[in-house]
Amino acid sequence: MEVTFLLNGETICADAQPTTTLLDWLRNDRGLCGTKEGCNEGDCGACTVMVTDATGAKSLNACILFLPQLHGKAVRTVEGIAGPDGALHPVQQAMIDHHGSQCGFCTPGFVAAMATAHLAGRTDHDDVLAGNLCRCTGYAPIIRAAKAAENAPVPEWMQDRPPLVDDVPYAPESLDELAAFYAANPGATLVAGATDVGLWVTKQLRDLEQVVFLHRCADLQDVSVTDDLIHIGAGVTMAEVLGVMGEHHPSYGELIRRYGSDQVRNAATIGGNIANGSPIGDNPPALIALGAMLHLRQGESTREIPIEDFFLSYGKQDRVPGELVTGVTLPRQAPDLRCYKISKRFDQDISAVCGCFNIAVAGGIVTSARIAFGGMAGIPARASQVEAALVGQSWTQATIDQAAKAFADDFTPMSDMRASASYRLQIAQNLLHRHFAQSQGQATNVLEVSA
Ligand SMILES: Cc1cc2nc3c(=O)[nH]c(=O)nc-3n(C[C@H](O)[C@H](O)[C@H](O)COP(=O)(O)OP(=O)(O)OC[C@H]3O[C@@H](n4cnc5c(N)ncnc54)[C@H](O)[C@@H]3O)c2cc1C
Ligand code: FES
Ligand code: FES
Repeated sequence: MEVTFLLNGETICADAQPTTTLLDWLRNDRGLCGTKEGCNEGDCGACTVMVTDATGAKSLNACILFLPQLHGKAVRTVEGIAGPDGALHPVQQAMIDHHGSQCGFCTPGFVAAMATAHLAGRTDHDDVLAGNLCRCTGYAPIIRAAKAAENAPVPEWMQDRPPLVDDVPYAPESLDELAAFYAANPGATLVAGATDVGLWVTKQLRDLEQVVFLHRCADLQDVSVTDDLIHIGAGVTMAEVLGVMGEHHPSYGELIRRYGSDQVRNAATIGGNIANGSPIGDNPPALIALGAMLHLRQGESTREIPIEDFFLSYGKQDRVPGELVTGVTLPRQAPDLRCYKISKRFDQDISAVCGCFNIAVAGGIVTSARIAFGGMAGIPARASQVEAALVGQSWTQATIDQAAKAFADDFTPMSDMRASASYRLQIAQNLLHRHFAQSQGQATNVLEVSA
């Protein structure tokens, strides 16, 4: 496949295998070894690069970024962050001044993430750097360096202009073209953000015979908001979903702030997070609690189903061969929605349990309840017995105590490396208590509670 992009200001036409990662290509083919390989699965940020497209500059993990995903974009690696005459970028100088590097293995990744945030004027350094691990310096000097560089002007060489490129057959630009291709080639692997598919290649060493990339399909990038509804195209990244939810459903937005890292959210799409059918994906419980509708298309035919009906059993979804997810529609108004993510680490960790509650109370009585959980079964699922135990009852501690028992009727969770079955059941019950306590004005967020 021929791929054209800008690399540190230079136009590159690379002839690449579709699943060659940017990291391997940089290090093996270009000899650019500043970008490091730590985990090779998106977790450590050592391979962070800055990628600019029409929507702006973003940090991405090069280890799970396939070369064709860069067609028509601009990449800046750590080798291109200092100026052409060797002048240091302000974040590099600040890292030196504030002793932000010891062994230095993580430093190129930190510098790439910091320089990308600096370009965008971002000062939420904890969020920006949550996907970068450092094993020896400690984070305080690095955060001090990021703060120190905040007001320095953006160096002129950091302003990349992505090249104009021709269409390529492996990355359709319209949904009609994509749907026709996939219906005719149902064995092809759809690649959206590659935050799952990338690992099939780097960790499972799978050969993907035929791949089709979704990132150039403009029809899947749509976000529209009306008085009643929000529609989000399947190709919309989690970084953009965070923006939409932060505005309209703040608790869902807070859940997404803890989804992977900035680098992962800049790549992962909402469609991929639903279509992969994972029982521990963070979007499905929130979308089920909201009563969202899922849109699917195979060739010319389209259909929509309640999203909860999409998940049939572990690893099995209501999706026929050659059918793709095109988007999701959810209510704009849901003031009662509350989402809780339980994971071993606060940032950059997959949920052990994710519980979402959409419970309406009028005159002290529960009038409706939609409660959905991830991590409690082989699929994301509603807690219908708990819902039934709440609706029509008074919104009191006694009702909560009674209803919490029904989690054992709804779910038989499993034990795995993230949590034991008994922990999962207990935490689901506790989340209902937490939700009630929060509704009574008590501080329950770990960031709000202090000794
Ligand atoms: C470091 C790291 C941290 C992560 N943290 C989280 C987290 O906190 N919470 C969480 O929920 N997930 C997390 N994930 C998982 C991952 O980000 C998601 O599952 C992701 O949303 C997948 O989306 P994608 O666009 O990257 O999909 P891809 O990897 O491109 O595809 C995933 C699957 O969906 C299929 N697919 C993609 N788009 C479509 C479509 N439109 N129609 C039909 N099929 C499609 C693909 O063929 C593939 O089978 C993490 C992953 C990594 C690597
Ligand atoms: S090498 Fe760890 S995120 Fe890429
Ligand atoms: S400086 Fe050694 S890992 Fe960060």
